[in-house]
Amino acid sequence: MVKIAILGYGIVGSGIMQVLEQNRVHIEKKAGCAVEVKRVLDKRDLSKELPSIYTNDFETILNDDEIQIVAEVMGGLYPAYDFVKQALLRGKHVCTSNKELVIKHGAELLSIAEEKDLNFMFEASVGGGIPVVRPLNTALTTDEIVAISGILNGTSNYVLTQMSNLGKSYDEALAEAQHLGYAEKDPTADVGGFDACRKLAILMSLATGKQVDFEEILTEGIQNINQIDFAFARAFGFTIKHMIDGRITPSGVSARAVPMLVHQSSPIAAVTGVFNGVMVQAKATDSVMFYGRGAGKFPTAGAVVTDIVDIAKHLHRHIQFSWSSEKIDILPFDSYKTRKLVRLRENKTENFHMAIPAYPGQIAWLTQSETDKSTKDSLKGLNVERILRVYEPMETVYDQNN
Ligand code: HSE
Repeated sequence: MVKIAILGYGIVGSGIMQVLEQNRVHIEKKAGCAVEVKRVLDKRDLSKELPSIYTNDFETILNDDEIQIVAEVMGGLYPAYDFVKQALLRGKHVCTSNKELVIKHGAELLSIAEEKDLNFMFEASVGGGIPVVRPLNTALTTDEIVAISGILNGTSNYVLTQMSNLGKSYDEALAEAQHLGYAEKDPTADVGGFDACRKLAILMSLATGKQVDFEEILTEGIQNINQIDFAFARAFGFTIKHMIDGRITPSGVSARAVPMLVHQSSPIAAVTGVFNGVMVQAKATDSVMFYGRGAGKFPTAGAVVTDIVDIAKHLHRHIQFSWSSEKIDILPFDSYKTRKLVRLRENKTENFHMAIPAYPGQIAWLTQSETDKSTKDSLKGLNVERILRVYEPMETVYDQNN
């Protein structure tokens, strides 16, 4: 029997209880022992709902030597960081769904876990129910990862899919996403690209083995995307997605979380609704893609329970993650080159490339691959309505002679 504590009894915390209860027999078989929730910490008074296990005092958990695993699902940096650090220092294993915590303090918490021969796991912090952290650290660990791209925010993807497929307005689609519980408390984190940017920083840190600071990632949201953008994107064979796009090249590391045009033939274009899809490109393996529910109670809770089971199987062995606190610099944004779809107001037709009858006076064309600055410089003096970058996967060629 392994005893655990859950910090935070919100959507994910209560989901963990339900998954542990409903899959009890299966989990016991996989973990090699029963998993019992000994304490649940929450700042609300849940003493009636969880009579024998509720506490609002973290010391109760910290001082209980029977509790070997702490699952932190409170979210936010404080007090989560203090609780997790103290738990590790007291010899308890920790798993978390908290991406803010992982990207800010992951390297430090992993090094404490290593020193103490414990485990710190965070599968649910990226991509909800999609296993992507673990594969990066296991199946793909011997290969050289060169790119991580795709969709890591379910809310944005839901909004863009509703706009694209059903012609809904941005506001209408966002209200629906909030109603369905996909969005964070403040939807700016989702639609502004900040949630995806943190998740990309975690994956890029795992891929490079060094600290990628999310503040250095080029981040833009979907708030300005409208039906005219979709009409012109379609006319050129694209759809619009909020993309994460991280690349590791001999000249450096680039990372962005921005809306992009994705060709309709790309598997990423087929990732719709609240689903996430992450493509990892590695030199020998080439492309692999992870697809699933990136948000929601049970997918996220299931990922936390997977960490709990993994820890229960490795109570006496630290599972190594290569992620040091040494910072890796991100290439300056003005060095990133992409093709772009440029749309502007133009009554003359001699520059005409593509016009759509429904939107008279607007024309659009695709540029060559160039920096944002080159594109802007070439458009000086024109009535530019929108510039959207085009996503093109990185070419991976494995040099067999090297
Ligand atoms: N709000 C996030 C999303 C899920 O929409 O993908 C939690 O990270």
